[in-house]
Amino acid sequence: MKCILMNKNKEVLVAEYNETSKFFDKIYEVKDINYAPYILKSFYLNDNINDVSFRTNLSEWFKGRGIPSWRDKLDLLLHRLNITAPYELLDKAFGLSLSDQYWLKPEGSNISYDDINFFDNDFDYSEFMEASLSINNKSITSDKSLKTPNNTTDGMLRKAWIIENKTRYLIKGGYKNDILQPFNEVLASEICKRLGFEHVEYTLDTYKDMVVSKCPCFITKNTEFITCYQIRKNMERYNNNQDYEEYVKELEKEGIKNAREKLENMYILDFLILNEDRHLNNFGIIRDVNTLKWLDVAPIFDNGQSLNIQDYSDEEIVINNQGRLFYEIKPFDEIIKTVKDLKRINISKLDGIVVWFDDLLHKYQSITNISDRRINGLCLVLNRQINKLKELIDVDN
Ligand SMILES: Nc1ncnc2c1ncn2[C@@H]1O[C@H](COP(=O)(O)OP(=O)(O)OP(=O)(O)O)[C@@H](O)[C@H]1O
Ligand SMILES: [Mg+2]
Repeated sequence: MKCILMNKNKEVLVAEYNETSKFFDKIYEVKDINYAPYILKSFYLNDNINDVSFRTNLSEWFKGRGIPSWRDKLDLLLHRLNITAPYELLDKAFGLSLSDQYWLKPEGSNISYDDINFFDNDFDYSEFMEASLSINNKSITSDKSLKTPNNTTDGMLRKAWIIENKTRYLIKGGYKNDILQPFNEVLASEICKRLGFEHVEYTLDTYKDMVVSKCPCFITKNTEFITCYQIRKNMERYNNNQDYEEYVKELEKEGIKNAREKLENMYILDFLILNEDRHLNNFGIIRDVNTLKWLDVAPIFDNGQSLNIQDYSDEEIVINNQGRLFYEIKPFDEIIKTVKDLKRINISKLDGIVVWFDDLLHKYQSITNISDRRINGLCLVLNRQINKLKELIDVDN
């Protein structure tokens, strides 16, 4: 299929997209490479637009927009959607997403972004949501249910975009049969709210007797989310603290205000809730798709994989003490040292939050069956981390 890679209304390039192999076989013309997905920037050669490496990366980028192979219960989802691989979904709705504005326009068609984007145009989500999150074995019956931004969601957890009062929300379940993730998301939002960290607001909801988290889309028709992974791809790799420092510099160079402070906020949150999952696609920046200006650090999101208690005994709670700092996995006590200014944190704002979390977990206990013992353990660990941070702030003062 001859098609145009679009970024909202801008033409990026004209190419031959092979719908069978899902590969871009030929590039006919590059219209404006500046509007291409950020990750492709470093692979583009002016004098050889058909360079294999560029086409391979373009193809991988496009395929990578599909649901990843590590999605929890993917086999079941594919079966219910009646397809064999997630990338088959990319042909169903132009590859559109709710995290950016890229799409593939068949050459010669008069389809416009305004008519198809999922920010303005409603989509039918109920069948996909059921296929993705429900335990009932129900298959999708209507092709309309495959014309949704759910074809292009990343991440391990089962999830679905829904619409309520015109707002697009992402609904996420727990991992396998563990139900703690949604509660951790809500705890993270509460911590961020109290400490004044810019964040995506997660709330709890129930779907067919399951507790899920729900958060509004943080992207608009005029913006895109660019992950740290994409930004780093083009930069030298040191496998130490310098990766973080160079990233901060890059954001500052592009005019993002308070970039360091905002990243520090994220690592403070990770310390408090022992978030193990701050990989490079779980944070990034927001860019204006019209002007290409880097606007801000993306609000803190995806904090579910936290408070991971591995074992309890009467004397001790064993927890995973390792988090992520760029390419390194290391103890939270080490990661927190990258925060240069802890004095600005008003830790007393967290007073009472452990009781608040305890109440929240108990409130849903009849659905989640999380034991009293586990709730107690989770609250003890949270309390311990808050006290540890208090001590670090005191040392700083
Ligand atoms: N509120 C949002 N608005 C816009 N895009 C979002 C939002 N939340 C998540 N996304 C996009 O969807 C992707 C997957 O979401 P998220 O990271 O929350 O899922 P996950 O399954 O918990 O991921 P992981 O595999 O990291 O555990 C994100 O990397 C981001 O690109
Ligand atoms: Mg994620």
